[in-house]
Formats: sequence, C-alpha cells, structure tokens
Amino acid sequence: MLHLKLETDPRWTVIAEENIEEILTDHAWCEQKAATNAITIITHNSQYEDLVTDLLELAKEELEHFQLVHEIIKKRGYTLGRERKDSYVNELYKFMNKGGNHLQSMVDRLLFSAMIEARSCERFKMLSQHVKDPELSKFYYDLMVSEAGHYTLFISYARKYGKDIDVDKRWKELVEFEGELIKSYGKSESIHG
Ligand SMILES: [Fe+2]
Ligand SMILES: [Fe+2]
Repeated sequence: MLHLKLETDPRWTVIAEENIEEILTDHAWCEQKAATNAITIITHNSQYEDLVTDLLELAKEELEHFQLVHEIIKKRGYTLGRERKDSYVNELYKFMNKGGNHLQSMVDRLLFSAMIEARSCERFKMLSQHVKDPELSKFYYDLMVSEAGHYTLFISYARKYGKDIDVDKRWKELVEFEGELIKSYGKSESIHG
C-alpha cells in the first residue's frame, strides 16, 4: 500500500532494539517534528478550510504520540534528552521545489509529508514485527496504523488541490528520490537512521 521502493533491512531492528533508549528519544522528537510540520502547513494554507480542519486533528494526534513516547521513556527510567536531528528528513527536504508557485509548493510539501509518514509507517511495522518486548511491539503496531492514515490524508490533499499538477508523476519522482536516499540508511539507532 505504501509503494516504497526499498524495504528496510531487518538487521536495522536489531540495532534499534539494542539501543531502545536512543530510539525512544529520537522517536519522541520525530513526533514533535510531525506536529510542527502540520502546523506549518496550516500556517501557509489557511484558506483551505477542510485541510486546516484535518491537519489540526493530525497535529493533535502527533502530539499525543509524542506524549505516549514520553510516558514510555518515563516509565522505563530513561530520559528524553535533547532534540535529535533527522538527517533523512533533511535530505528528503532537498527534493522539494522551493521556487515554484504557491500550489506547487503546497503539493510538494504534502507529498514530502506523505513520504515521511510512509517511511515511518514502514519502520514502525518492522519494529512491531521484530522487537521482542511485547509492550513496544503493540505500541509500534498501533502507531503504524495511525501513520498509515496520515500518509493517506496527505496524499489525498495533494491530489485534491493539485488538480492542475501531475501529482502522480511528482509522487513517482519522490519515490525514486527516496529509494536512492534510503540506501544510505538502515544502519543506525534512529527511527529513520
Ligand atoms: Fe505520529
Ligand atoms: Fe503521522
């Protein structure tokens, strides 16, 4: 359903499980970034009432995810730690057309967001299937379902408002771009690492 070009090597889940405190910290900040991204899209596209309505809901869900990860961190006696940078997302950001018109920028931002949801969803699926800790396995399963819904939402708004743009072509280009990018990842202890 996600149409990603390359699946993550399952060995990444071993690295993740061996460094679960770091994964949880990185994950918590991923959720913060997802909430922030949704607010940014709302700020730049406030004329679309339906989009604002749905992205406000999405932002709330991302903050809830942040809170859920934080609860797990506290329960296990770990510390949240400082915000982690996300080099995968920073690299992916370079795909976006920043010089185009408003609609092109909006569509690119929605597709960029959909891609991050798709890859996160895939990583959560891997964790839910491979992590031995039952609490974390269930937790990541539930998040996989939620992020899959976000992926669909971003894609559908790109299609709805990008009627004059070849959104499918742009999405295919992003899938190719991400497929190359992700080859350098899957080796370190972060959600997109
Ligand atoms: Fe989330
Ligand atoms: Fe999400």
